[in-house]
Amino acid sequence: MTRFAFIIHPLSAKDVARKYPLAQFLPERLVEALIRMKKPLILSKITGITSPTGATTEGWFIACPLTPRQMLTLPIEEVYEKITACAVLAAKQGAQIIGLGAFTAVVGDGGITVAKRSPIAVTSGNSYTVATAIEGTLQACELLGMDLSKSTLAVVGATGSIGKTCAKVLGKRFGRTIVIGRDLERTQAVAAEISGAVASTTIDLIHEADAIVTVTSADSEVILPEHLKPGAVVCDVARPRDVSVRVSRERPDVLVIEGGVVQVPGDVQFNFRFGFPDGMAYACMSETMMLALEERAESYTLGKDVSVEQVEEMLALAKKHGFKLAGFRSFEKAVDQAAIDRAKSARAGLAVVPVAATL
Ligand SMILES: NC(=O)c1ccc[n+]([C@@H]2O[C@H](COP(=O)([O-])OP(=O)(O)OC[C@H]3O[C@@H](n4cnc5c(N)ncnc54)[C@H](OP(=O)(O)O)[C@@H]3O)[C@@H](O)[C@H]2O)c1
Repeated sequence: MTRFAFIIHPLSAKDVARKYPLAQFLPERLVEALIRMKKPLILSKITGITSPTGATTEGWFIACPLTPRQMLTLPIEEVYEKITACAVLAAKQGAQIIGLGAFTAVVGDGGITVAKRSPIAVTSGNSYTVATAIEGTLQACELLGMDLSKSTLAVVGATGSIGKTCAKVLGKRFGRTIVIGRDLERTQAVAAEISGAVASTTIDLIHEADAIVTVTSADSEVILPEHLKPGAVVCDVARPRDVSVRVSRERPDVLVIEGGVVQVPGDVQFNFRFGFPDGMAYACMSETMMLALEERAESYTLGKDVSVEQVEEMLALAKKHGFKLAGFRSFEKAVDQAAIDRAKSARAGLAVVPVAATL
């Protein structure tokens, strides 16, 4: 059996309190200073992943004690060292491949340096993340009865590893595409590869979009209630989230779904709560599991470019091993029919009753 490990990290200093309850009483900067001194640790053993082919795998969650803010601001060598230490710990447990979760895949060169220094294979998981973001967005648009050829897509964070490929693949399906990044020249380079796409560095332009994929590596929210068109679909792939929690309260007409939530085959036991119901995982975790099930202890998605071929290969592996998109989730809850109906009504130009008033 090929075994895997997956690196997770606190999304904020508050998250640290899940493991160390005392942390909730300490100032954020002090919590960050304390975890900076800590070594990576094993959080749990993951068991029970069974493919319909009969293949099985198991693995470990490894905690990388750094927040996104620390990973973005500390000297990159210190961050690489800590991520590599996670891989060394995983190898000692018996893992042959390690997946880079959230910001451990974002920082620096997106896993290339870590893979060179790691004793085991490394993947960022971004290929399957792209695949599920595309699948989820298309399914949500279909549920709302959206005619894609007459609709506008916006991709926020379109110069990034996940955003770029989402924009290229999804851009072919929509009538119009707006790609949004921070650097105009690099954003224009992405737009140039999509027929009829426009590039922008202002978030306000998403007000024209019927469907939005948002996948920045910002450490705070970038999409606010006032940015969104009535009845829009927003697929938020970013962790931490790009979409403000205010959208869930103030825009009942908008359908926000979390990108990259996957149902894992078999009786998987994560033995660690990361905010999903039993049996569900992030797409990046699932990519690592699928490579292990395939006995492919080889580095897979690395760097800042995800190829369409890699996305297609991950889709094929998902089909083979029984990984599939989980039902839609929004702000840590399952999306119900009422939320879909509200967005549909808004698209039809009908008034939408605020969520609080319907309770
Ligand atoms: N749901 C899942 O399963 C899953 C899996 C993997 C990753 N993720 C999440 O996906 C996100 C992106 O990952 P990635 O690998 O594509 O990252 P990436 O390659 O670093 O790209 C990030 C994108 O966000 C932009 N950006 C960075 N900071 C920003 C800010 N403050 N405001 C606006 N835009 C900003 C970047 O612009 P520049 O090009 O100008 O830097 C780039 O376009 C992260 O939040 C990560 O945690 C989720």
